[in-house]
Amino acid sequence: MKEKQMNRFSGTMNRRTFLQGSAAAAAGIAAGSLFSGAEAAAPAGSPFTLPELPYDENGLAPVISARTLQFHYGKHHRGYMKKLNAFIKGTEYEGMNLARIIKVSSKKPGDTAVFNNAAQFWNHTFYWKSMSPSGGGAPPEMLAAKMKDCFGSVKECMAAFAKAAGTQFGSGWAWLVLDGGSLKVVKTSNADTPLAHGLKPLLTIDVWEHAYYLDYQNRRADYIKAVLEKRINWKFAYANMK
Ligand code: FE2
Repeated sequence: MKEKQMNRFSGTMNRRTFLQGSAAAAAGIAAGSLFSGAEAAAPAGSPFTLPELPYDENGLAPVISARTLQFHYGKHHRGYMKKLNAFIKGTEYEGMNLARIIKVSSKKPGDTAVFNNAAQFWNHTFYWKSMSPSGGGAPPEMLAAKMKDCFGSVKECMAAFAKAAGTQFGSGWAWLVLDGGSLKVVKTSNADTPLAHGLKPLLTIDVWEHAYYLDYQNRRADYIKAVLEKRINWKFAYANMK
């Protein structure tokens, strides 16, 4: 457990994993706002429940098939939730909101299992919202201006995002984040999440094989390209900037 925890942090806090930026200039995180439904209103100590998908199972097809969503959402995401509920029952974490569980467990080497399942539960909810059946196209004007300021152009920002997703070795995530006032692209390994490092996530792409293998097999680059061009939810990213 301890070795895994140390690897997780050494992997996420060095330059090889974070393409740009450091966690030092931490911005405030509005992570709690991600869950605005039953979980936000749940009494302290209540088990977490699986948030509904923001579209139906065919909503992302043909970029992501209903079959992938059935497994990814119905099995993997649900599995993280179930394990999280089991791990936190009767512990100091029971009754904490999800963002708090992630932050507290990220600092405790003995609580890697809690961190992994809490982070994966949060990451997946954020991932579903990072895509839309009517996604793709051009970002909202103010987000596009920010992309231009920080990357030179929208195209270069998207290229950096695609590169992070394509070069993450093994399982993990690519993120568009705010680090203070700067827009940055980072990647994280396994369950790790920008929330644990004081960064404000705007968008993510899941690059665990379970996210694309049924539809694309080993062609991760094709999955990334299709998501960015046709399903990425710029409105969600823009809303997260505020
Ligand atoms: Fe996943």
